[in-house]
Amino acid sequence: MTNLKTEQKLTQTLKGEMQGSPPIWLMRQAGRYLPEYQAERAMLPDFMEFCFTPEAVIKVTLQPIERFGFDAAIIFSDILTIPHLLGQTVTFAAGHGPMLEKVEWDSFLKKSIEKDLTQEYQPLYQSITIVRHELSSEKALIGFAGSPWTIATYMVQCGKSQDFAAILKFAKEKPEIFKQLINLLTDKVTHLLLGQIKAGCDVVQIFDSWASAVPEEHHEELLWNPLEKIYKSLKKVYPEIPVIYYGRGISKHYPELAKKLKGLAFGLDQSVSLTWAKKELQPLATVQGNLDPEKFASGEFENDVSNILNKLSQKPFVFNLGHGILRHTPIKNVYQLVEQVRNYK
Ligand code: CP3
Repeated sequence: MTNLKTEQKLTQTLKGEMQGSPPIWLMRQAGRYLPEYQAERAMLPDFMEFCFTPEAVIKVTLQPIERFGFDAAIIFSDILTIPHLLGQTVTFAAGHGPMLEKVEWDSFLKKSIEKDLTQEYQPLYQSITIVRHELSSEKALIGFAGSPWTIATYMVQCGKSQDFAAILKFAKEKPEIFKQLINLLTDKVTHLLLGQIKAGCDVVQIFDSWASAVPEEHHEELLWNPLEKIYKSLKKVYPEIPVIYYGRGISKHYPELAKKLKGLAFGLDQSVSLTWAKKELQPLATVQGNLDPEKFASGEFENDVSNILNKLSQKPFVFNLGHGILRHTPIKNVYQLVEQVRNYK
């Protein structure tokens, strides 16, 4: 019997199997370093509208696969679609990053808890189904969402902030409201990921880019409990679908998480020691990472790639960057990286 999923190198690796050189994909692989992405975006300048236009989403999701032959496509969307659809309008002005409307929390939460976003997410789900159909069977399709905490940082701070003072103050002064917000997002993230899997995603990743801003004494409440809830809800419905958690700056907690959430795979940022990951994490879980995006963009990355492969590819391992690919990354670097990883024995 042929099973679609058994042909996928990424999916197999995440399930703990190994075959040849490690699979490779890059976080933010569809994006502004690609001229063909820029051309598509220029036709639809409103970013959120772009995210909900299947024709555009399908095209830009497939662009990096057509060019570089990565082992996986990641569906083009954004972690901020959830607040946007809940009514906290998100806009992107050039050079500014995301800007979110200020909301009145009591009424926003009351309204949002009952709001089912299934209908609003139809354009995304349709795009997933079509991309899955167009992708060849050996390529995996990755779905994703932000973690509740990381999404909340943007919602409370109305955008990106350097120091997280505003959100920590908010959590301290309005603990009930903050708890409700985290619960709301846990619920919406779960639904979104279930919807993406139902529509055709083979793997999902949870982006927790700002995990390290949470004070240690709040890790359980703000990071690990929501993650556990999401993970268990997904596993209950789709036990075969691998889940990757990418928590930036928080990897020292991965071994304890791996023991608790069996089967969860972990994305490493570039600060993580390879020796540590090999010794402490690889016996427990599949790992993914962790080439420094700056070094990758600079062109001086061949030795780092060899190092990563030599240290981590004796166990199930997924090659990736430690964070998203930078806009100024020369395209020739991407070709060179894929070739180096593919040729590794
Ligand atoms: O990886 C992919 O190719 C899929 C698409 C994807 C995007 N955002 C598209 C995007 C993914 C997985 C994300 C995740 C995301 N979005 C994260 C977590 C990962 C990370 O990088 O830490 C975060 C924090 C966001 C929120 C967000 N969206 C920010 C901070 C920005 C502005 C960044 C910037 O470079 O201006 C966005 C916009 C965004 N999301 C762009 C893309 C390609 C750039 C928009 C444009 O074309 O102008």
